[in-house]
Amino acid sequence: MILQSNNVLVKHLVNQLRNSKTKPAEFRAIIAQIAKLLCAQALENIHTFEKTITTWHGPLKTHFIDESKLVMIPIFRAGEPMLNGVLELLPNSIGGFLAMKRDEETAVSQIYYQRFPSLKDKTVILLDPMVATGGSLIDAISLVKEQNPKEIISLNIIGSPFGVDAVDTTHPDIQMYIAQIDDRLDENKYICPGLGDAGDRAFNTL
Ligand code: PRP
Ligand code: URA
Repeated sequence: MILQSNNVLVKHLVNQLRNSKTKPAEFRAIIAQIAKLLCAQALENIHTFEKTITTWHGPLKTHFIDESKLVMIPIFRAGEPMLNGVLELLPNSIGGFLAMKRDEETAVSQIYYQRFPSLKDKTVILLDPMVATGGSLIDAISLVKEQNPKEIISLNIIGSPFGVDAVDTTHPDIQMYIAQIDDRLDENKYICPGLGDAGDRAFNTL
């Protein structure tokens, strides 16, 4: 399932990322903000548990998210600022790590670091701002599925129609919340109009 945001605030923030004058610190901060907004939307129907708390008017039985059931997995590098954003919202969730790099010539990505906690019965939230060919996310989802999580949610910022369709066709059972699906891939398999190279822009390696 692909859900493209129609939130004006999300679009406003995405367009600030597109601006090539946006500097790395601001770029990372905006990515973190968008990740929070996408996370809020993705968790609208998440299972909650009841707990009684003491309010200024006495006891109140109310609902909370079980953060210990959520595993946040950013795809490094560009997913790192998204992790910071969602961990501010859900500081007691669990972190997993996956690092991938696209080959500059072939656009095929390779894994260079993986460290997952147990994913059994967990809701995994994958974090990667860009879905270009979809190759990185498809491989990341396949790896996560090997550990039998309860469900997989992907939070992404900009995708191409090709990449988003490829992910949906290969993994129709995951939920993708994406801020914006752009027009196309260019001849170098970059998203157009996109924002350039998200990892380079976030970490000042242009
Ligand atoms: C970018 C991005 C995705 C991938 C998307 O990472 O963050 O992981 O490319 O491309 P795809 O859909 O065609 O696989 P990149 O490989 O540039 O690494 P980086 O985050 O370290 O810059
Ligand atoms: N990776 C990026 O960071 N940007 C793109 O447009 C494609 C892949």
